[in-house]
Amino acid sequence: MIEIERDGAVCLLTLNRPEKLNALSSSLETALGEELDGEAVRTSACVVIAGEGRAFSAGADLTELGERTPEEVAAYYQGAGHVYERVAALPQPTIAAIHGYCLGGGLELALATDFRVADRTAVFGFPEVSLGILPSSGGTHRLVRLAGPARAKHLMLLGGRFGPDEALAAGLLTDVVEEGGARARALELGRQLAEQPRLAVSLTKQAIDVMPEASRQAGILLERLAYGMLSQTEDHRQS
Ligand code: COA
Repeated sequence: MIEIERDGAVCLLTLNRPEKLNALSSSLETALGEELDGEAVRTSACVVIAGEGRAFSAGADLTELGERTPEEVAAYYQGAGHVYERVAALPQPTIAAIHGYCLGGGLELALATDFRVADRTAVFGFPEVSLGILPSSGGTHRLVRLAGPARAKHLMLLGGRFGPDEALAAGLLTDVVEEGGARARALELGRQLAEQPRLAVSLTKQAIDVMPEASRQAGILLERLAYGMLSQTEDHRQS
């Protein structure tokens, strides 16, 4: 369900369930989680996530929604449903290469990455509220940080679809490219990131991720400690 390729130090993971527009079933989420533990990801300097077929992902598998007891929901978030947090917690930078539909859980998966590149065919949206639920794979938490509360509420409460220009204006994307170009642009960005000193990239990414939740004092201390580590690396000595 996941195709893995290496392009030098960049690992490309492709959601491979095109007949269902890469709908994120528990099996697909589990397969993605397994790849995060695999050598191809562990040894990479950057991870790109893309979708096979005509969409990045049409979101949570609708056939699985509503079939779970509260206990099963809790177990889901301990298991397959934890994969979004695991993507977000990867120590190396991650990029979503988006084309076609990027809805619901698909958009939440993209939001769990560090950078999002979309082509002109991209269609975004959060259909959850219209379905009587809410984005619950870290989406509300991440969207409000990227887009601010008013825009996040607008995008999530009304459930409308929006294109790459609106996504770019809302701060969700780093790049919009021509149709068919998202994967190539993401790999190019991935190669640029991979050329940077790896530990410095990783610690800076992690520092930025924890800063919104850290006090100023803890944040400053963390910077200084990380500097203490990085200043002793070969990468720094040779620079
Ligand atoms: N869960 C499960 N299956 C899905 C799916 C989803 N989220 N999204 C698409 N699929 C399946 C369709 O059932 C269809 O399967 P089939 O060929 O066996 O019938 C296949 O993927 C292709 O989808 P289809 O609806 O025929 O394509 P389309 O181009 O006409 O429409 C969408 C595309 C994305 C607009 C439409 O599929 C859709 O609205 N999907 C649900 C989106 C959603 O609500 N996601 C968030 C859930 S929280």
